[in-house]
Amino acid sequence: SYLASEASIALDNAHLYREVEIQGQQIRSFVENVITNEEQDSRRLALDLHDGLVQLIVASYQHLQSAQAWRRRDPDAEEKELEKGIQLLRRAIHEARRLIGELRPAGLDDFGLIHALQLYVAQLSADADWEVSLDIDPDWPPCPPALEAALFRIVQEATANARKYADAARIQVKLEADDEELSLTIRDWGKGFDPNEVASLPQQGLHIGLIGIRERARLWGGRCTIRSQPGQGTTIEIAIPRARASLSPQPIAARS
Ligand SMILES: Nc1ncnc2c1ncn2[C@@H]1O[C@H](COP(=O)(O)OP(=O)(O)OP(=O)(O)O)[C@@H](O)[C@H]1O
Ligand SMILES: [Mg+2]
Repeated sequence: SYLASEASIALDNAHLYREVEIQGQQIRSFVENVITNEEQDSRRLALDLHDGLVQLIVASYQHLQSAQAWRRRDPDAEEKELEKGIQLLRRAIHEARRLIGELRPAGLDDFGLIHALQLYVAQLSADADWEVSLDIDPDWPPCPPALEAALFRIVQEATANARKYADAARIQVKLEADDEELSLTIRDWGKGFDPNEVASLPQQGLHIGLIGIRERARLWGGRCTIRSQPGQGTTIEIAIPRARASLSPQPIAARS
């Protein structure tokens, strides 16, 4: 009847509205997540600039100033201050290059994740007194650039943590692919820590590295497992469903 078909259209409309509403919420929360990630990244960059680069330049400036003050009065003292100033400047240059390298991972845009990781790991091995290995599954497929960037950032953060806290002699980065999932594992054989304790850290804007790793995995519908124990080293495993790894992360793009 006419009434029955009216009613069913109304019902369909109600369903449709609900669908749209739910999708709207998903899109909003996705956008919020992206914004939070970006804010955290720029906050971290600000901190790195402030604590690293700026401190080095300030210290160098002070030594050069004091060299100037000693000039003609005490050539030895002048020489010493000059030397310290120059040495600090050299470190500042190194630090500036490191920061730029972090902003634009070498090779990622042009040659993809595997090549970028090879370059990164080679640099990492040279930087510290540890053995860094990179294991890549021959079945690892090319992924969307946004996913490759996310995985690279995860490796960067996990290895930065290992360098800062683990005091590890060995670290391993591994990419594996099976029919269901792509997985990335970063493991160190260092000090380890208690993830529960860290998860309850209340500071705002501090200790955002692990949160960022989880967040990036979640944006790709993936899992993130962090296993660590004091004295036992740390393992971070990310698993992304293959179905998602061949799509872009934006529900917006996928649905339009
Ligand atoms: N590989 C690791 N070995 C030992 N301790 C670790 C390791 N990774 C993380 N931790 C501990 O977990 C804490 C939280 O790490 P997280 O990366 O979230 O924050 P952070 O490194 O302190 O700060 P941020 O990453 O925001 O610069 C660290 O402060 C450190 O105590
Ligand atoms: Mg960190």
